[in-house]
Amino acid sequence: MEVIVKETYEQVSQAAARVVARVLNAKPNAVLGLATGSTPLGLYQELIRMHKDEGLDFSQVTTFNLDEYVGLPKSHPQSYHYFMRENLLKHINIPKQNAYIPSGTTDNYEAFCAWYEQRIRDCGGIDLQVLGIGGDGHIAFNEPSSSLGSRTRIKTLARQTIEDNARFFNSPDEVPIYAITMGVGTILEAREIVLLANGEKKAQAVANALEGPITTMNTASALQLHRKAMCILDRPAAGKLKMLDYYEWIQAKMPNAP
Ligand code: F6R
Repeated sequence: MEVIVKETYEQVSQAAARVVARVLNAKPNAVLGLATGSTPLGLYQELIRMHKDEGLDFSQVTTFNLDEYVGLPKSHPQSYHYFMRENLLKHINIPKQNAYIPSGTTDNYEAFCAWYEQRIRDCGGIDLQVLGIGGDGHIAFNEPSSSLGSRTRIKTLARQTIEDNARFFNSPDEVPIYAITMGVGTILEAREIVLLANGEKKAQAVANALEGPITTMNTASALQLHRKAMCILDRPAAGKLKMLDYYEWIQAKMPNAP
């Protein structure tokens, strides 16, 4: 995996936005896979800025979000529908019908999951998947012990994820227990992947993902199998990497590093 280390979260976000812009410039009708949470907020702000100041065009873009809480309607302020609308979609020129987010309120989850997978295929597959990483190494809501071949399905959240995400709710009791999430197998089919992480709290999960064994106990470690995956980190998140010197040495020699 290509590892890029930046000094600040702002630089991580800007580098990630340059990766997105590179993909859109090469393919204006690209399909993007998107994440929610704190990590990509800076990326989304930078994409909005690039759209407004530099004319970055989303008019032909399609997006697929990784996940949604089960039971939260689109209007719930903690739903990922709401998050995406407020933090990205309403600020750019993406056609509303091109932005797909798993449903948290369907009455037939099995059928919905199959439809979501088919929709990704019908749109030509994901060109660039943006990921964050959980403190337990999850990508999307593929918690430890998830199959590395998993597809879109319902997952029970791990206790640590519920505690981590409680900061967005009034109390941990309000955090939904289930989520609908793309699988690790779904994610690995993206043509290109960019994993973002910032802050010391992610350092151990990042080190396990990048340098540990490939294991269901850290589903981000499955990215080691991907041919075009990049990880962009700030220095605190890179703090436990054993090969940090090596990554920085390579980075210094890469003319096209974002
Ligand atoms: C969100 C998602 C999750 C988050 C992860 C990190 O769509 O798929 O895997 O990326 O939980 O969350 P933050 O960025 O809030 O630390």
